[in-house]
Parts: sequence; C-alpha cells; structure tokens
Amino acid sequence: MRTFIRNRGFLITLTTIILRISHAFQNPIIPGFNPDPTIQRVGKDYFLATSTFEFFPGVPIYHSIDLINWEIIGHALNRPSQLNLRGTAPSGGIFAPTLRYHEQTRTYYMITTLFDIISPPDNVTHTPRSFYVTTKNIWDEKSWSDPTYVDQWGFDPDLFFDTDGRTYLTTTLGSQFVDPDSGYFAIWISEIDIKTGNALSEARLFHVSDLPLNTPRLAEGSHLFKKEGWYYLLTAEAGTEAGHRAMISRARSLNGPWEANPQNPILYNGHKMSNPILATGHADFVSTPTGDWYAVFLGTRPQNPANSTGKNQLGRETFMASMKWVDGWPVINNGEDITFEMPGLYDLERPKKWRDDFSGKLGDKGYYTPRTPYKKFYSLDERPGWLRIKGNPYTLSDRETPATLMRKQVDLGTVWSSELDFKPTNPRHEAGVTIFLSIHYHNEIAITLHPETKKRVIAAKTRMGVNASLNTTYAEIPETGTVKLYIKAEPSKYSLGYATGNGKPIYIAEVENRWLQAYLPGWQVFTGSFFGVYSTAGLGLPMLVPADFNYVETELL
Ligand SMILES: *[C@@H]1O[C@H](CO)[C@@H](O)[C@H](O)[C@H]1NC(C)=O
Ligand SMILES: *[C@@H]1O[C@H](CO)[C@@H](O)[C@H](O)[C@H]1NC(C)=O
Ligand SMILES: *[C@@H]1O[C@H](CO)[C@@H](O)[C@H](O)[C@H]1NC(C)=O
Ligand SMILES: *[C@@H]1O[C@H](CO)[C@@H](O)[C@H](O)[C@H]1NC(C)=O
Repeated sequence: MRTFIRNRGFLITLTTIILRISHAFQNPIIPGFNPDPTIQRVGKDYFLATSTFEFFPGVPIYHSIDLINWEIIGHALNRPSQLNLRGTAPSGGIFAPTLRYHEQTRTYYMITTLFDIISPPDNVTHTPRSFYVTTKNIWDEKSWSDPTYVDQWGFDPDLFFDTDGRTYLTTTLGSQFVDPDSGYFAIWISEIDIKTGNALSEARLFHVSDLPLNTPRLAEGSHLFKKEGWYYLLTAEAGTEAGHRAMISRARSLNGPWEANPQNPILYNGHKMSNPILATGHADFVSTPTGDWYAVFLGTRPQNPANSTGKNQLGRETFMASMKWVDGWPVINNGEDITFEMPGLYDLERPKKWRDDFSGKLGDKGYYTPRTPYKKFYSLDERPGWLRIKGNPYTLSDRETPATLMRKQVDLGTVWSSELDFKPTNPRHEAGVTIFLSIHYHNEIAITLHPETKKRVIAAKTRMGVNASLNTTYAEIPETGTVKLYIKAEPSKYSLGYATGNGKPIYIAEVENRWLQAYLPGWQVFTGSFFGVYSTAGLGLPMLVPADFNYVETELL
C-alpha cells in the first residue's frame, strides 16, 4: 500500500512536470520594475526594451530566442552624451521607449522621451521633444549613437516605417487646446525625415480616446503597424493604474477613416478589481518565425490580491500573452483575463539563489544608479574580490547621484544580503544596503558612527507615513571586522537585519511594503523598488574611507 501511494505520487509529479514544461509559461516574463515593454524580432532573435525613469543607464535591451528566457545585453542610453540626468525628479527621466528595426538599412532604432524638467509639486513640467538613438550592432551597447531629436512634442513616441519608405512619428500630447472634449492626452502624428529627425509634415491630431471623459479619457503609448493592407493603431488608455487597458483601431489609409475594434479593450484585467494582476496595458506585438503572435505589455502584482488598493512594490512589470488574428482584429489570450500561468511555450525554472562575488567585474548588466554618475565611483580591482564604493557628498535622499549600485527587486519574497567592511571616522559617514523606491521612500541597514557615543554601530533607517518620516534604530557591533547586512522582503513588509562573525541575522526594524510604492502629496510614482549597496559621506562633504562589499546575494524565501 505504501509503495502504491509512493508510486502514484511519483507519477503525478512526473505528469505535472511534463505538463508544466510543455504547455504553460509563467508571468511576468521579465519580473521587477520593467514598464512599457516594446519588442522587435530580427530573424530568430527577440529584443525587448523598457522604461527606466530617473535611473542610469537608461532603457535596458533584453534578448531572447524563445520569448521566455530573457537576458539583459546592455542599455541603449549608457553615456552622458546620450542621457545626462541631473536633479531629475523621482519618476521623471526616461519614459516609454519604442524599439524598431529598419530592414533596408539593417539599423535598430530606439525612440524615447526625457522628462528632465518635471517637478510635480511645483507643477513645473516641460513637454519635451523625443529623440532616437540607432545602432547596426545591438549586441554592443557602446555602438548606440548619440540622440537625434524630432520636432513634434509629446511622450511615448513610436516610429513607424511604412512600406512606401516614409517614416511616421506618433506621440502622446495634451490636446485640450485643440478639442476640449478630447480628454487629457491624445495621439498626434507627423511624417519625419529619418536621417535628420526633421518634420516633413505638420503635426496633426490623430487619435482621441473613445472612453467616457471620467474613465479617464487618456490615450497614450501608441504603436502603429501595417498588416495585410490595414494600418493598426494600438494605444494604452485610461491611465497606467488599475483601470489601464489596451485599445486598437484600424484604417486602410493613415488619413482614415478609422474604425475602432468593436471588441475593445483587447486587454483589460481591471473589470475585476480583485484580479491578482492589474494595470495590464501599454502593449506591443511580435510574431514568431512560424507565424504565431504574442503581445507583451505592462502589469502589476498588487501585494494583497483581494484588495485593489493593495500596493505593488515591484512596480510595473513585463507580462506576455499569446494572440490570434480573427476577422482582421487581434485577440489576446482568447479575450480572457491575464493570469500568472499562461498556456503555451514552457515554464522557465528560475534559480532560487543569485549571487555576485565581484570577481574582477560586475556579474551582469543589471546594476543601476539614480541619475547619471559624474564619474566612476567604484572599483573591482583595488581590493580583488571586493566591490569598493567611494562615498560622495550625496545621500540616497538627494536629487543627485549618490554612490550606489542597485538591482531591481524581482521576487516578492526574497532576502538581499551583503558583507561589508567599513570603518567610518565621522558620524556623517554611512555605508550599507538599501531597499529604495525614491529619494523620499527608502530604507537602510548600515554601518555608521553613533552621533553621541561616536562608536561604530549598526543603524536601521526606515521611512514611512504620508510624510516619509525617518525612524532610526541603533545596534552595537564590535569596533572592527566585517558585518553581514540583510533585507528580508515578504509580500507585506521588509525587515532589516545584520550579523557579525558566524551569527544568524538579527532583524531590528521593519517597514510595511505599502511605503515602497508611496508618494508624497503632489508627487508621482512610475517606478518600482530596488535593492542596493551604497556609501555616503553625508552633509555635502567628501570622504576618503572606502566601503568594501564582499558579495551581493538574493535568495528566495
Ligand atoms: C499644482 O496643480 C494642482 C492641480 O491643478 C493644484 O491643486 C496645486 O495647488 C498646484 N500647486 C502649485 C504649487 O501651484
Ligand atoms: C485595502 O487596503 C487598504 C490599504 O492597505 C486598507 O485601508 C483597506 O481597509 C483595505 N480594504 C479591504 C476591503 O481589505
Ligand atoms: C505631514 O506634514 C504636514 C505638513 O508639514 C502636516 O500638516 C501633517 O500633519 C503631517 N502628517 C503627519 C501624519 O505627520
Ligand atoms: C521605529 O522603528 C522601530 C523598529 O522598527 C519600531 O519598533 C518603532 O515602533 C518605530 N517608531 C515609530 C515612531 O515608527
């Protein structure tokens, strides 16, 4: 009997594995803060890019040959002549990109918008002109060109190469000044000279959302396609929150008349606010070499699935669904809601543990710094096997470039840890690990000197509440020796801990995760949380003491 049960269990397990391998894939396909995905296939290779806002380098390029296993190969914006973020507000910076390949010239184009002058509480925002960068070798990130600016205003730009050789630019722009009933944002179009970016036609109002004014009526994130004699205009509508959705319309000519898909929205989880995935929208389409179609789009994982006000501390992530064409219209996931497990392709086994030992170079290209560093602030060869960070005058709360390397949080339940060797000589010196959303909401566990005793201590700093109030907790440690630092992320909270010698982590502070997707009144959040290592001299003064990190590691809970 016992043998029978064991065998049966074995059979069931085997069947489950086979089913999972052959028939289903897991969403999100690129977890962590990866909004506004745009995808392009060239031959057997898929490339996908996402928005980065105030983080540098800008616009990661991910590569895959099967749409499931994605690897970051570089960033389109990786030097100050392309992207110089100075004083950029949280959630300002680089908005949604479009990635396209121009067959005739074998050139990749990445077009995006830099919101550098955006200061939400002061209502100071300039609607900038978008720019594109190009490369013939997408594998070499250094080969991306400097920016070419276009003339038409607006954000969420799209480049469309028509079959007659003409190039069209569409962008998102406030249109109330043309049509008070158009809502807040609508899509505009102009023909451009792809060599110079110069407009070849007047910009004209191209698409206004059909949604009721109070939905809200926002049309953004356009992508223009041509297929079998039809032009298709795909848009992201109703804002990027829980009501976000994808809409499509078509015409035989770019001059119209346009026909809205009677099945709109073609992507919308927000009709049921208890869905564990919300905000699905801002889509882009791709076909496989064998003629299957897929849509990639952003979505969120609210922390408390039964409660639509539950925050999503990972930000907006990249999701995918299969797509069919029925009567000349795209049907995503057979018109059903987007779920974590989706039919088709295969299930990628993600490693439970990821570690960078800092052996000579950074483990991969997934590291970011808020805003563009003035110069290199870290070294991997001054102390071999360690990441040496040289703290600068800026802290993680400054609208500047603190000395930090951050990675996107990609799992809801995980422990981020590092081992730090740091001997501060002044209470303003501080180095450690952070869970970071923005200059307002970030939490650290660090080594510093106690302001009164001047002894080397652990400081746990949390920021919560509507005013992001700082709360510091101290713990005593030996005067010398390395310390291990831990941030334990769980779906509902983060805990900050440390360990000395071979001891187990002692957690001394915690913060609810809703403060990792919060904003001060008047500000906005379009980003997600990052784990990081950092060092700061504080008080606007420099520091000579280095902070040496032995490794960084994440391990699933
Ligand atoms: C910014 O605009 C909002 C909405 O129009 C308004 O309520 C607020 O008072 C403005 N803030 C400033 C500093 O002008
Ligand atoms: C939903 O979450 C919010 C914020 O966390 C909370 O205030 C509210 O009571 C919750 N609602 C329900 C029905 O659980
Ligand atoms: C937040 O700050 C404002 C302005 O200083 C103050 O009026 C308000 O009481 C503060 N709220 C809390 C919860 O501390
Ligand atoms: C400050 O943080 C400590 C440790 O997490 C916590 O016990 C305490 O309640 C916090 N105080 C306030 C005012 O939030």
